[in-house]
Amino acid sequence: MSTASAARVVIDLDVPGPAISRHLYGHFAEHLGRCIYGGFYVGEDSDLPNEGGIRLDVVEALRALDIPNLRWPGGCFADEYHWKDGIGPKADRPSMINTHWGNVEESNHFGTHEFMALCELLGADAYVNGNVGSGTVQEMSEWVEYLTRDGDSPMVRQRKANGRDEPWKVPFWGIGNEAWGCGGNQRAEAYADLARRYATFCRDHGDNKLYRIAAGASNDDLAWTEALMKAVSCLGCGRTPRNIFQAVSIHYYTVAGTWDSKGSATDFDVEDYYRTIIKAQDIERVIRGHKAVMDAYDPDRAIGLVLDEWGTWWDVEPGTNPGFLYQQNAMRDALVASLHFDVFHRHADRLTMANIAQTVNVLQAMLLTDEDGGLVRTPTYHVFEMNKGHQDAVSVPVHVVERPAPYKLDGKTMELVSVSASVKDGQALISVSNLDPVAPLDVVLDLRGGELRNPAGRLLTASKPQDHNTPSDPQAVSPVSLTGLESDPRGLRVTLPPHSFATVSSAL
Ligand code: AHR
Repeated sequence: MSTASAARVVIDLDVPGPAISRHLYGHFAEHLGRCIYGGFYVGEDSDLPNEGGIRLDVVEALRALDIPNLRWPGGCFADEYHWKDGIGPKADRPSMINTHWGNVEESNHFGTHEFMALCELLGADAYVNGNVGSGTVQEMSEWVEYLTRDGDSPMVRQRKANGRDEPWKVPFWGIGNEAWGCGGNQRAEAYADLARRYATFCRDHGDNKLYRIAAGASNDDLAWTEALMKAVSCLGCGRTPRNIFQAVSIHYYTVAGTWDSKGSATDFDVEDYYRTIIKAQDIERVIRGHKAVMDAYDPDRAIGLVLDEWGTWWDVEPGTNPGFLYQQNAMRDALVASLHFDVFHRHADRLTMANIAQTVNVLQAMLLTDEDGGLVRTPTYHVFEMNKGHQDAVSVPVHVVERPAPYKLDGKTMELVSVSASVKDGQALISVSNLDPVAPLDVVLDLRGGELRNPAGRLLTASKPQDHNTPSDPQAVSPVSLTGLESDPRGLRVTLPPHSFATVSSAL
């Protein structure tokens, strides 16, 4: 192992920053590969313990993450999904072809009622993504009515006939998905007009207030965000945008290679590792860019920025269906997640929600399951669990005043240390990633404006960044307690191993 590098991080425990919405820890479940069918949903006839077909060990594992919201049914699938095919007796539901993901037959056995039951089991808010690409305004409007209206109406009567008397709460509503691509290959201005129109007919029924999210840009397509912001505001004629949709989304994936050759999740070298972390860290530049555009049209930050798809995207595991996006998940993925959260915490003044893609068996998943009942918690799962104390906490300023020299590759720069901190209910939580794949990090947490009364730490690491969990070794990468935490005249000192993620928490 190389000699340790050093960092000193000043943390202002008494300087409140923006609140970290719990929704920055949101999730995404699409009808794609084995995310819904075979992941969340195994059907009532399965031998695996289930409730209404929903796999209970999956629910139990995810409940430990305090999942705040779940986005569904897509993704690209959302723009070819017709919700009325997914209600009523299962035997009568028409099937369809999931043309985007594997050209497989979709039974529609997992539909609106099953999704809302899943949200209830998880204790998560529903984020339903409507169909703009191939659906009508009426269809979307009626879906909102079916889900959220009380009393008596045509949609309410149908819902009741299907066994649900009470309306559900649906706080989040997506107005299509990736409208520039699979959502209809639209131009920004054309979609912006559609977003206004569809959002108008997604009504607030009773006390259900929808947070309508317009389908946003890919990566740093700032022109797309500007078109959406222009569509609801005008420069010089009022500070506050019109209240038509309440947020715009962006999607950002960590693709370290090219779309044709994204690289393996577990078979990679140290350069691939650096390239991945550099790509992941670029999320901060992307968020800053969109924030700047939004600030120009909405200085009071009435409109939220929602990163409703993020995470690593690798080549599929050998021998699996290329349309199913099934990939392994290693210690490297965990660090991609931990550094994203640090960025999210820093930009919580505009970023109101983020959803990792996707929760089970697809892309950067929390859980990998098999039909025989196997269930593996991935390294990324553990980052979500270790960081959950940041949900609804107040972000506090973090200044990395001494740090190892950044790594440089192909003209790009990678920071080797990433930190964020928050305070909630008299409790501080500090997250530190040592992104250096070879050297340990001797880090001093220089705490100002408060003392940690009884600090305790947890550590996630592995002997190699390639290490991952499998059914035969499910704990290969899992948290242990952080040893060697020492008091220092300036706060706390600890040495973190290479490629590791740690949290320190304490009462103040
Ligand atoms: O998450 C997988 C896909 O990635 C989604 O369906 C789509 O929105 C994005 O391109």
